[in-house]
Amino acid sequence: MSFQALRGTSDLLAPDVARWSAAEHRLRRLAATHGYREIRTPIMEDAVLFLRSVGETSDIVQKEMFQFEDRGGHQIVLRPEGTAAVVRAYLEHNLHKTQGFTKLFYLGPMFRAERPQAGRFRQFHQYGVEALGSASPWVDVEVIALAHEMAKACGVPGAVAWIASMGCRADQARSAEALRKKLAPHRATLCADCQARFEKNVFRVLDCKKPEDQKTIASVQHGSPFLLCEECAAHFSQVKDGLRQAGVPCEDTAAFARGLDYYTRTVFELRAPGLGAQDALAAGGRYDHLIEDFGGPPMGAAGFAGGIERLLTAAAHAAAPQTAEEPARRGVYLATAKPALLPKAFQLVSALRRQGVEATLDYDGGSLRAQMREADKLGCRYVAILGDQELAKGELTVKDLAQGGAQESIALDRVAETLAGRLSHKAKACHR
Ligand code: HAM
Repeated sequence: MSFQALRGTSDLLAPDVARWSAAEHRLRRLAATHGYREIRTPIMEDAVLFLRSVGETSDIVQKEMFQFEDRGGHQIVLRPEGTAAVVRAYLEHNLHKTQGFTKLFYLGPMFRAERPQAGRFRQFHQYGVEALGSASPWVDVEVIALAHEMAKACGVPGAVAWIASMGCRADQARSAEALRKKLAPHRATLCADCQARFEKNVFRVLDCKKPEDQKTIASVQHGSPFLLCEECAAHFSQVKDGLRQAGVPCEDTAAFARGLDYYTRTVFELRAPGLGAQDALAAGGRYDHLIEDFGGPPMGAAGFAGGIERLLTAAAHAAAPQTAEEPARRGVYLATAKPALLPKAFQLVSALRRQGVEATLDYDGGSLRAQMREADKLGCRYVAILGDQELAKGELTVKDLAQGGAQESIALDRVAETLAGRLSHKAKACHR
């Protein structure tokens, strides 16, 4: 019997793991410099959390949640996104009372049962930030600028923020009414899904992919469907001014669809060249009612989430072709002439590791030649040979593979310290 990873999920092996770790490290630093502290929420949540926030008519809730009933009959979901969980945690831990304005970030897997295709996975990973407890347009600016910095930090130049405003809830109600009026004469010709959308969330009709419906939409809706009140228009213009000042490349786009229901006012998508149809590196916006909808006080909030897989794909596109330069040799391989010497070899390897040197050895009785070959394959800098003769003399034979195998003898009780000293801090690891 053989097994494979589930469709839309993947294993991460070397050398990709190193690229991921490096990106995660840079993203954590970026969050820290902007004052966002890490939060880790569970991967499973109550299904109702997403129904109430992402929205009952959204694709995520309608068709993409990995949902199951637990033994107690509760509906559980593998989280499809991070915002709802962060807001739940913010309220559950009373951060709205103890800290007020709170800036949090997260890095972790999300799950959506989408049809897998390039850039779309069933388990994917997001880097997200949420700034909770402020209605200031400068928070929108900070969040969008941070998304742009995120792309740069991951090696993606040329990303552009597509921004729009959906207005406040009153604006959305007014805009929905206006859109319904325009669509009403064509209602009977809309597809079955859009008939339902017309009642429940008429803006979703605008996202319909069916060609007939697209024709109808094009004939009735030009530009943004959102009619902004004075305050929302002023808020949006401050956001645009702020982004201009911050030097974030932006496109003010009238037609804008977000797949989640909690947004008010500013929404945005960060797009990168060269990603094809799935060109959104990140997306987010303001959600001024979610805290209140979850039982908290009325408090504004904004955030975004970026897809790590897409960021790294875009970075690989943007990277200059790799030169075939040999990576520097690192670490120590302790080659043992016979299995009986393993206890001593293990002791020496442990001493090297305590000095911060990545050290490795063979447990399976391979010949010295085979061990030398393995050390070379692993890219180790030194091979230290332990045989009966060496043990009798109280020393090791050490070959420097970066110097064509130049050989010397080093006393057993000095070897860890000597080799650790020679390997620079950066070059201590012996990597597979
Ligand atoms: P979202 O637009 O659903 O927003 O997802 C954000 C980003 O996650 C996308 O732009 C994309 O890079 C990545 N992404 C989404 N689905 C997939 C997938 N199936 N495969 C690979 N990458 C994917 C949210 O999730 C909101 N919670 C963002 C937010 C935070 N809004 C406010 N705060």
